[in-house]
Amino acid sequence: MSRKVSKAVFPVAGMGTRFLPATKSIPKEIMTLVDQPLIQYAIDEARAAGIEEFIFVTSRGKSALEDYFDGAPILEAALEKKGKTKLLEALRKSDMDSGAIAYVRQREALGLGHAVWCARRLIGDEPFAVLLPDDVITGEVPCLQQMVEAYQETGGSMVAAMEVPQEKTSSYGVLDIAEDHGSIVGVKGMVEKPAAEDAPSNLAVIGRYILSPNVLENLNAKKVGAGGEIQLTDAIDQEIGGDGVYGYRFRGQRFDCGSKDGYLQATVAFGLQREELREEFTEFLRDYVQMRDAAE
Ligand code: UTP
Repeated sequence: MSRKVSKAVFPVAGMGTRFLPATKSIPKEIMTLVDQPLIQYAIDEARAAGIEEFIFVTSRGKSALEDYFDGAPILEAALEKKGKTKLLEALRKSDMDSGAIAYVRQREALGLGHAVWCARRLIGDEPFAVLLPDDVITGEVPCLQQMVEAYQETGGSMVAAMEVPQEKTSSYGVLDIAEDHGSIVGVKGMVEKPAAEDAPSNLAVIGRYILSPNVLENLNAKKVGAGGEIQLTDAIDQEIGGDGVYGYRFRGQRFDCGSKDGYLQATVAFGLQREELREEFTEFLRDYVQMRDAAE
């Protein structure tokens, strides 16, 4: 099977309950880091990795996401008329070519595995990427691009992995390691959200995957796993005896923007990365912490 990865699935049908009440009317993926919605960071990363087809698994209440990728002729004309070329450039970043983007609906939030399965007809019989937009990853080489390069060596299925504190394993899928080659890890088992004492390692799966189409067949069984959800991890785990499953320790920093603390940390980190904001924002943070410490 060819190892070209040209399609990516973005499962965005979750309810985002950790951000209620905001997510009652705003999809989590539209929440912004500085001035870009979370979804834009994931799209940029996918593009850098050579992805050409973008498949969104959406649900009721996510129309703001679809609108975001539409053209905005009135806004563009207004900016053009005022000569605001920089803003125009920023706006055009969100444009997607006609036909490059497709939407399927997940009628019920039955879990991440089920969401990916909903895209099966659009994926077909080829390897594909999955990106969870609430995991935002910074790094010199975008995470998915690193994985696509490593995948040319391994084939099979690959999950992004990072070390987490042992007491946090119950929030992640965790890898049982067969062989550790540094950035590439051979996997002999995967456990979804194990208690710290049952976790086979502290190497956790995070939201980037390159998957064999066999995983979609495994999902046909709609097996319910941890938390009463159809888990993607379980369907990947079934591939271990077949073409193999590999963990990839990416180079970069991951922010869990699906949680409040991760989102706030990312806001600070991305704010500090912006040249036009850095000086004033750093000063504000320094003064604010000093002031708060003095008041305590
Ligand atoms: P999360 O576990 O973060 O769930 O899903 P959530 O609903 O987005 O957020 P909380 O936990 O209620 O706050 C991880 C990813 O899987 C997608 C989500 O949209 C998110 O990108 N997902 C999850 C689906 O698309 N469908 C599902 O049934 C579950």
